[in-house]
Amino acid sequence: MLKNRFKHHLFICHGKSCSENGNPEQAKAFFKDKIKEHSLEGTLRACFSSCLNLCKQSPNMVVYPDGVWYSGVQNLDWGRIFNQHLLNSKPVVELQTKNEDPK
Ligand code: FES
Repeated sequence: MLKNRFKHHLFICHGKSCSENGNPEQAKAFFKDKIKEHSLEGTLRACFSSCLNLCKQSPNMVVYPDGVWYSGVQNLDWGRIFNQHLLNSKPVVELQTKNEDPK
């Protein structure tokens, strides 16, 4: 059984609300560039997800296998998420989803 192939797998919501309130295309490009810059293609991965069912708190991202959710993520937050969480395994507490109120 294949387990934990990547140290961190970032899913960037590409649903309607997150696309309207954020920049998922730019976010994915940002994280992919950072991954390449640090030669971490085999360790970290950034992908789109469909709606994560937290539209009111968009834009949203989630990091697995940690199960850490980020909401209201703006462009200026991407670097912190990359440096602090994806590189150093320390989730950015201030950006984590505060409640699970769905759509
Ligand atoms: S569109 Fe992103 S959570 Fe629904």
